[in-house]
Amino acid sequence: MDTLNMESITQFQNWPAAITVLVLTSFVFLVIHHVRRPSFSKGAPRFFSVGDWPIVGALRFWTDRLNFVNHGIHSSPSGNFSFYFGRNQIVGVSGAEGRKTFFESKDLSLTEGYGVLFATQPTIPDDAYKGEMAFDKWFQRTIIGQTRKESFARNLPLFVNDTRESLERMVAREGNPGLMDPFDDLYKIIYQLTVRIVGATEIANDPKLRAKTLRLFETIAKASSPTRIIFPWLPTLAYIRKNVAGARLYYELNKLVEDRKKTGRRENDTLQYFIDTNETVVRSLTFILGALFAGQLNSGITVGGTLTSLAWHPQWYKKVQEEVDGVIARNRKSPDQSAVDILSTLSIDDYTDSFPLIDLCFREEIRHQTVGTAFRRNISGGDVPVGKTGDVIPKDAFVVYPMDDVQFNPEFYPNPEEWDPSRYFPVEGKEQPLYIGWGTGRHPCLGMKFAKLEMSIVGALFVAMFDYSLADEKGNPLASAPPKDRSGHSAEKPKTPLRLKYTLRKQ
Ligand code: HEM
Repeated sequence: MDTLNMESITQFQNWPAAITVLVLTSFVFLVIHHVRRPSFSKGAPRFFSVGDWPIVGALRFWTDRLNFVNHGIHSSPSGNFSFYFGRNQIVGVSGAEGRKTFFESKDLSLTEGYGVLFATQPTIPDDAYKGEMAFDKWFQRTIIGQTRKESFARNLPLFVNDTRESLERMVAREGNPGLMDPFDDLYKIIYQLTVRIVGATEIANDPKLRAKTLRLFETIAKASSPTRIIFPWLPTLAYIRKNVAGARLYYELNKLVEDRKKTGRRENDTLQYFIDTNETVVRSLTFILGALFAGQLNSGITVGGTLTSLAWHPQWYKKVQEEVDGVIARNRKSPDQSAVDILSTLSIDDYTDSFPLIDLCFREEIRHQTVGTAFRRNISGGDVPVGKTGDVIPKDAFVVYPMDDVQFNPEFYPNPEEWDPSRYFPVEGKEQPLYIGWGTGRHPCLGMKFAKLEMSIVGALFVAMFDYSLADEKGNPLASAPPKDRSGHSAEKPKTPLRLKYTLRKQ
């Protein structure tokens, strides 16, 4: 035993050569198994080889998405093309036939597409799937149930009050006149309103818990990494960070559930619905995160983006301010009411119907903010034809559709980079331009009514309370905002910081 001490066992060079070869060969086989790319089936669209690397595939799909996809579309006679990202087979589709298949085929799964390719989404834990209904059906049904008009009506006074208090706190902090960050101050208000509807009252009411949970959500949202898509078995730092943030959110939510159960305290919110229907905390958290992923970034960025765009389009700013002032004047009951007091008395229908111009501004802003591609996966078990193009989406392959194919297509939007809400003005004999900013086909946005409501409240209160103009971080006036970066993957805060310089309006 003298010679077989621990030191000699752990010394690599002392292992018998045969074992070394066996271990190395197994490792190589394992790597080959995990990185070997399945070949595309026969009818798949033309393979786009520019920028294709062995093992990792088309890295430009990550680093330069818009140009990569446009290049792929133009390289193929049908406008559809195939490429790899890691081992994943992906088909890019475009044009009328591609669009129809992408948005309308029941063989293509949105959940599976985003689950793998939109790497920021939380991984759905195995036990979240348990239950008599498929996870995506349950998710859709729950979000529809929790975003009914009754729930909006119940929460409306709170929404308005949350917004008012946050804006007043901002003035107390920044002064009057002051400088504010629309992509932070308004983004946080949207979080509070969204969490009221799809989360827990305690989070909406407690500024510390709100800040903490938003930070954790953002950690998850920022943990997107191409490495995990290409090597799904590799525990990257981003992946670990995302899971730690998920575990901390679980801990916070579990504490709320336990507290309500122990004290018998009830709230009228989504968390209570989950407690009453005996959902697990994992499924409840998975739902809340999914709803935040669908809504927070989009609504939070759109409302900040719209107010910013108004600041450098004075003709539209003036019209919107007139619209808001008109609604306030029409609803005034006494001279001593403030503008915000009056906005607090409006009903859901008032918010939905009384601000048509603000609604068109949101529509135009969403057209500008919608970047990147939407995702699906072929789950039919066979090939899926791309309309009449002759191309197919192979079994199990992913599909991507560039939103710019509609939203920035000069055929539908002449001078697409111009910010011009009048594009949607009704003109007799002229159809509305094709629009996919709220989704279409089998997966229209299920949070649209809520998003429009929360954005209208925040937008109307802001315009009523302040006169404002565009500025840089130091408060220097800016004539316009730099063009939005269209190579991104989803709506995001501007790369160059923008501020709004405001003064309180006298009313
Ligand atoms: C400005 C705000 C928003 C915009 C622009 C927006 C846009 C979209 C778009 C384009 C889609 C379709 C995606 C696709 O086809 O791949 C979609 C789907 C969806 N949205 Fe929104 N959204 C917004 C806010 C919200 C909010 C606040 C919620 C919920 C709280 C929400 C929940 C959903 C859900 C659940 C789906 C998936 C529907 C399905 O699975 O069939 N969205 N949204």
